Amino acid sequence: MNKDSVAVVTGANSGMGKATSIAIAKTGATVVMVCRHRERGEEARKEVQEMSGNSAVVLMQCDLGSKDSIRSFCTTFKDSYQRLDVLVNNAGVILPGRHETSDGFELQFGVNHLGHFLLTKLLLEQIIASAPARIINVSSGAHKIGKIHFENINLTKNYRLWRAYGQSKLANILFTYELADRLKEKGVTVNCLNPGAVATNMGINRNTGFGTFITRILKPYFQTAEQGAETAIYLATADEVAGVTGHYFYRKKQIKSSKKSYDKNLAKRLWSLSETLTD
Ligand SMILES: NC(=O)c1ccc[n+]([C@@H]2O[C@H](COP(=O)([O-])OP(=O)(O)OC[C@H]3O[C@@H](n4cnc5c(N)ncnc54)[C@H](OP(=O)(O)O)[C@@H]3O)[C@@H](O)[C@H]2O)c1
Repeated sequence: MNKDSVAVVTGANSGMGKATSIAIAKTGATVVMVCRHRERGEEARKEVQEMSGNSAVVLMQCDLGSKDSIRSFCTTFKDSYQRLDVLVNNAGVILPGRHETSDGFELQFGVNHLGHFLLTKLLLEQIIASAPARIINVSSGAHKIGKIHFENINLTKNYRLWRAYGQSKLANILFTYELADRLKEKGVTVNCLNPGAVATNMGINRNTGFGTFITRILKPYFQTAEQGAETAIYLATADEVAGVTGHYFYRKKQIKSSKKSYDKNLAKRLWSLSETLTD
């Protein structure tokens, strides 16, 4: 990456998204930080600018739980930039209790998978035109307990937090492998990763404070956000993974994801459902 490159990082105001933004900004590239909350985003943007010494750090607002917001962000982005070299789909949510996005999707599936599915598809033309380009999807080891509940995709029945999160993180990997196949001849690589256990704001409910105490207890045993972001940064910037596509990484090493995640029929079925749900 160099000063002519443009990168987009979702969920960039916090945790690994902020650490990833700082590292990419240090390469001199323009970094567009995609955040849902303007004030939190602006505070983080200033920090990323300061820590990286790069003035080309830009905030753009987008709620990945809203198709309208995603469409509006993509239009603004395309009006502002001619290229997109690196897209890091990092934003994620895990919250106890069943919640829905503004479009009525179960929150984890809606934000972690569908939001990124729509965002990526809307930016794809620009990414392909910027090839060689890279797409990185931040998944989780929790994908191993995941299953795609086609008959109950919004988990209106038998909702369990880990069922919802696992479904969304398996979807991230199925999406990665399918997209990598579709883009093979286009010079765009698509990979995903498990950052491991990382002390961030993940699992903390901002409104109730739920999760703060547990996070504080576990913090000494978890990686820092900077350590957790290393694999995403590696996939976004390292020369040795140029041309590597359709793989799952952990600690900068290519490893196997769950058996289910390699099921091509499952990936195609999820793709088709995601297209229907995102119009
Ligand atoms: N932490 C871990 O141990 C761990 C383990 C495995 C995988 N992961 C994955 O790592 C990624 C980064 O998470 P993190 O640990 O760095 O957590 P984090 O500090 O909570 O960051 C998550 C980011 O996602 C954003 N976000 C949530 N809902 C959004 C929405 N509707 N629209 C736009 N942005 C939204 C958050 O924005 P707000 O600040 O406004 O809420 C925040 O910027 C996630 O995909 C997560 O699933 C984390």
